[in-house]
Amino acid sequence: MLLGVNIDHIATLREARAINDPDPLEAVFIAKRAGADQITLHLREDRRHMHDSDVERIIQSSFLPINVESSINPQIIEFLLKLRPHRITLVPENRQEITTEGGLDVLGNFTRIQEITKECKKIGTEVSLFIDTNLETLCSTKEVGADMVELHTGTYANLHLMLFSNLSRTQHSIKELELPKEELKELYLNSIKDLQNASKEAKWLGLEVAAGHGLNYHNLTPILQIQEIIELNIGQSIIAKSIFTGLENAIKEMVELIK
Ligand code: PXP
Repeated sequence: MLLGVNIDHIATLREARAINDPDPLEAVFIAKRAGADQITLHLREDRRHMHDSDVERIIQSSFLPINVESSINPQIIEFLLKLRPHRITLVPENRQEITTEGGLDVLGNFTRIQEITKECKKIGTEVSLFIDTNLETLCSTKEVGADMVELHTGTYANLHLMLFSNLSRTQHSIKELELPKEELKELYLNSIKDLQNASKEAKWLGLEVAAGHGLNYHNLTPILQIQEIIELNIGQSIIAKSIFTGLENAIKEMVELIK
């Protein structure tokens, strides 16, 4: 299974001071040295972390494939097409959200996504759609011409946090998941089954399968057991660990876990 390291939070830290340090491009070279297979970054409409110049510099200088997450916003897509990244992953975007919440509404944006997919095919850029484990959405993903699907593991990750960490006893407890343990456990097991079924279905449809969101050093095991998943995109947990251990060590530890 391959590891894509999402480096958005390096830019988040830089933007906290609006200066030029830390430079996300430096993270690309460290990630390569540490054994990562891909770099993932998100050019958000509000440019809250990555800027156009970051994406440009990273695509032009990286020895690793670059997977750029983007909304279906025409200006951003036009900009990315000129840069010809290895892959564009289309994600939903809501200005108020802290991070990408929920998967892309493929059916609701079918024509626009189809258009983007066609443009990407012309320049040899792969297209992945970040979606929830919904079987109808998977079929639309195939019909729209995408090469790959990235399954949103956020629900699974939240349930794991509420069941197996102290999150529920902190100020960041997830209110809608403050449920009796038994109920939480059932939801947790169902979230794994949903990911298993969606992965099988996606492979059966001829789509490559990736997964990501909220994955960390403690919750990987059930995901690693899903054989259809060939790639994980992980950001926050790696960057969080890197504060204490350094980025190279944090990535190496994740690479070892995945192996
Ligand atoms: N994959 C996609 C499509 C995402 O939007 C994100 C978050 O930017 C990630 C993976 C990484 O999620 P996390 O930072 O929670 O590991």
